[in-house]
Amino acid sequence: MKGLILAGGSGRRLRPLTHTSAKQLVPIANVPILHYVVADLVGVGITDIGIVVGDTAAEVMASIGDGSRWGAKVTYIAQDRPLGLAHAVVVAGPFLGDEPFAMYLGDNMFEDSLDGVVDGFDGCSAARLLLARVDDPSAFGVADVAPDGTIVGLAEKPEEPASDLALVGVYLFGPRIHEAVRAIEPSARGELEITDAIQWLLDAGEVVEHRVLEGWWIDTGKKDPLLECNRLVLDRLGGDGVVVDGDAEVVDSTLVGPVVVAAGARISGSTVGPYVAVGARCAIEGSTVEHSVLMDGAVVSDLDRLTGSVLGRSAEVTGSPGDQVDLSVLLGDHSVVDARSSEGGTGG
Ligand code: TTP
Repeated sequence: MKGLILAGGSGRRLRPLTHTSAKQLVPIANVPILHYVVADLVGVGITDIGIVVGDTAAEVMASIGDGSRWGAKVTYIAQDRPLGLAHAVVVAGPFLGDEPFAMYLGDNMFEDSLDGVVDGFDGCSAARLLLARVDDPSAFGVADVAPDGTIVGLAEKPEEPASDLALVGVYLFGPRIHEAVRAIEPSARGELEITDAIQWLLDAGEVVEHRVLEGWWIDTGKKDPLLECNRLVLDRLGGDGVVVDGDAEVVDSTLVGPVVVAAGARISGSTVGPYVAVGARCAIEGSTVEHSVLMDGAVVSDLDRLTGSVLGRSAEVTGSPGDQVDLSVLLGDHSVVDARSSEGGTGG
């Protein structure tokens, strides 16, 4: 079986971070999301992997390389414009050929291995979907599952969902999907929808299997789910949950686990944690930081409390000693926020 990772897209819901960088490379516990994705596929024996890339191709290629670090062979597939998940399958057609494949959305993360999902799939049935029970099905692609367990229909973000079973970020396909993605028309939002392609398979009388997910699953494409994912992954740290790289410096500070601190970071006169990932070469001074992701080179100084925040690379937040400021922000790379009461305002 081949793997197809979707790492193009426009990432509108994570702007401004995604103006300059790929959302699939945002770090969770200091490791880019896409690295977990590649490792998951390799973990179930899928090593021949295509990665669909868009505007952020260069950055994705620099981060993953040829895949040999994971024992994988990676082929990059350019998608000129993010015209939908089914469009990504169209452009990947020559790479995929007639082999069954696992399509994995590059900004999704799963608690459990994909063993139970891929087990026994040989492409004889046209597709196998992964479904999860959700509280708000109308925000997702939803499956209509008959009492005997067969999928009888699919709907994208339905107003009146047929079930609470949403399609989540891994799909297995046999070769007939290639006919389906070519047969469908763009949806109202102008995209070739994978749900429409799967509905086409159903209408053509094909069998679409499914598995229901048990562990957690997160689409990290928005700030709060991203922070939730960071929390869940940091919760897996053993011991006191405090992991500090040997090249980081922690002075007159308290680290409250779970927390990870990468190489070259400097923390002084601060309380950091719980649930904070401090990237390489970050600086935190005279501040309290909780429940946040600080990407490489981010700086926090003299801030009473930073919480629920994602700071892009080399972003800077500055407060004043003694000022009570409680800040929760999503900052793009190199953004600057001046939270000093005498100066006020936001820039960058
Ligand atoms: P989405 O999160 O559904 O779409 P998006 O990246 O355009 O984000 P937003 O809605 O915030 O603008 O995409 C899921 C994954 O698939 C994600 O990793 C991006 C990728 N993708 C492609 O590679 N090509 C595409 O045409 C689309 C729509 C998404």
